[in-house]
Amino acid sequence: MARILGIGTATLDVINTVDGYPPEDAEVRALARRIVRGGNATNTLVVLSQLGHHCAWAGTLPDGPDAEPVLADLRRFAVDTGPCRRTQGALPVSYVTLNARNGSRTIVHYRNLPEFGADQFRLIDVDGYDWVHFEGRNVPETGIMLQALAARAPRPAVSLEVEKPRAGIEALFGHADLVLFSRQYARARGFATPGDFLAAMAESTSKSDLVCTWGEEGAAVLSAEGRLFNGAAYPPPRLVDTLGAGDTFNAGVIDARLRGSAWDETLEAAGRLAGRKCGQSGFDDLAPRNEPVC
Ligand code: FRU
Repeated sequence: MARILGIGTATLDVINTVDGYPPEDAEVRALARRIVRGGNATNTLVVLSQLGHHCAWAGTLPDGPDAEPVLADLRRFAVDTGPCRRTQGALPVSYVTLNARNGSRTIVHYRNLPEFGADQFRLIDVDGYDWVHFEGRNVPETGIMLQALAARAPRPAVSLEVEKPRAGIEALFGHADLVLFSRQYARARGFATPGDFLAAMAESTSKSDLVCTWGEEGAAVLSAEGRLFNGAAYPPPRLVDTLGAGDTFNAGVIDARLRGSAWDETLEAAGRLAGRKCGQSGFDDLAPRNEPVC
């Protein structure tokens, strides 16, 4: 069991489930609606917490009662919100259209809230953590935080999630021990396979382990030693909800590495966990089960 600090967002997700994605300018009825906490870093943390780790979240939330459901959900998963900063602004909200036919999720995100920055990070005693996980956003400030961690000895392990292309984000890669890329990012950089993408990324980040997810085609790792591993996807019998599948996969990778798993085992464990998540709604019940032994 490790002590993990996650730095990134918490949102309110308003999720409408629809029977097929609507055409533009259509008016359709939702089959169901859920209003839940979301956000990449906090999604990853609630999964890591269920896997047995002590988790804490550093990010921003607005002053006032709007943030209460978000805080309550993190408390429900025993995620420490002590490092969170309250500030003026609006609660970030994602309006999600979830297609019941294939589990795809389309997100419209509204954000008007200052980001968590290096000044707030300095107030955290990072010696209290074994692992620090960053969402790859707010590039200049994240760069300062990553450099501050890299300069420490001893220091916690550091991972960086790179989901979306953002100006200058490449400068961050070399400061993390583990970089977790999405297919969305790899494609935006013009790559068609995870192997080619990771090889290109390794040219500028030779000391980091590099992971890239590839949806239904699984995921790949290029280790810091230069070895490439491919992992399968483990789709559920029915795709129910893919919102946060990547965040769940990242939790699986961090958990497996903390347990000392080899890369092939890590990819399998993270792939199975993400697959389980896609077969259910939300992030509850992702703790390991004692599967019956046949
Ligand atoms: C899923 C998610 C949602 C959130 C959105 C923010 O990965 O974190 O929970 O609303 O992405 O981009």
